[in-house]
Amino acid sequence: MDLAEEILKLKKEKRAVILAHNYQRPEIQDIADYVGDSIELSRKAMEEKNAEIIVFSAVDFMAESAAILNPNKKVLLPTLGARCPMAQMLTVEEIKRVKKLHPNTPLVLYVNTLAVSKAECDICCTSANATKIVESLNADTVLFGPDRNLAEYVQRKTGKQIIPVPEWGFCPTHLLFQPEDVQLLKMQHPDAKVIVHPECTHEMQKTADFVGSTSQMCVYAKKTNAKTFIVGTEEGLLHRLRKDNPDKKFILAYDGAICPNMKLNTLDRLYTALKEEKNVIKVPEPVASQARKALKRMFEING
Ligand code: 13P
Ligand code: SF4
Repeated sequence: MDLAEEILKLKKEKRAVILAHNYQRPEIQDIADYVGDSIELSRKAMEEKNAEIIVFSAVDFMAESAAILNPNKKVLLPTLGARCPMAQMLTVEEIKRVKKLHPNTPLVLYVNTLAVSKAECDICCTSANATKIVESLNADTVLFGPDRNLAEYVQRKTGKQIIPVPEWGFCPTHLLFQPEDVQLLKMQHPDAKVIVHPECTHEMQKTADFVGSTSQMCVYAKKTNAKTFIVGTEEGLLHRLRKDNPDKKFILAYDGAICPNMKLNTLDRLYTALKEEKNVIKVPEPVASQARKALKRMFEING
């Protein structure tokens, strides 16, 4: 039996479910019960009523959200070191400092934050619903973190004043994309559609036909007639895009756009985590309850 088959057997025995983010290695996406963006995976984690174990193949903050939303389930992260650097850029101290400066301004936090930060905010959002969440608030000025590019995207979309917290939070992988690379690729593929993630810079977003979350990009690619797509997000998404659209061509806008943390998860590590039921993600109280409120508010607005 090969490793993938061993995992599937173990998964059945242990009543486990495997959720994998769109950036996971192809061999992990292929054995997962569900592959999706951050909001879809959180939703799936809540829907899995019969599972006792959730193997969350992604990075720290996503597994933490699953643990917060499912306090009675065992949530396993295949590799404990898989930590999103953007989430580490926002500290509780910084949140408290900014809140003091803007006492009556709501704080919206991207799910790419640690649980201790989520516990300090009014409501969470993902790249798929950030605009909708900010629009739903009865406030013209909103504190938003930690991604500055997403904050500016939301400002452009809503017309509200968005104060980024911290001033310069960013995703090191998405910052690698350059509009010049897209222009060169467009010369070679003039009919191609450009799809990018809102964590890319505004200059990069300006080259795009569509800006959205990883799964929203998949929906766009499927329903759009174009045959070629230039993709501005982490390279893992190309596996899913190609699998879903075998007749279409997908070109990564920059070959080096790899999230090293997402790629720390391997089949081997996933197998060991499940077999030994190790790398359990736990969020202590009262942080878990506070963060749960912010996540649940998001689901109330974007169900
Ligand atoms: P999505 O929710 O769009 O999948 O984004 C998560 C992420 O980490 C992007 O870098
Ligand atoms: Fe974090 Fe960027 Fe990796 Fe997404 S791609 S998990 S934002 S470092």
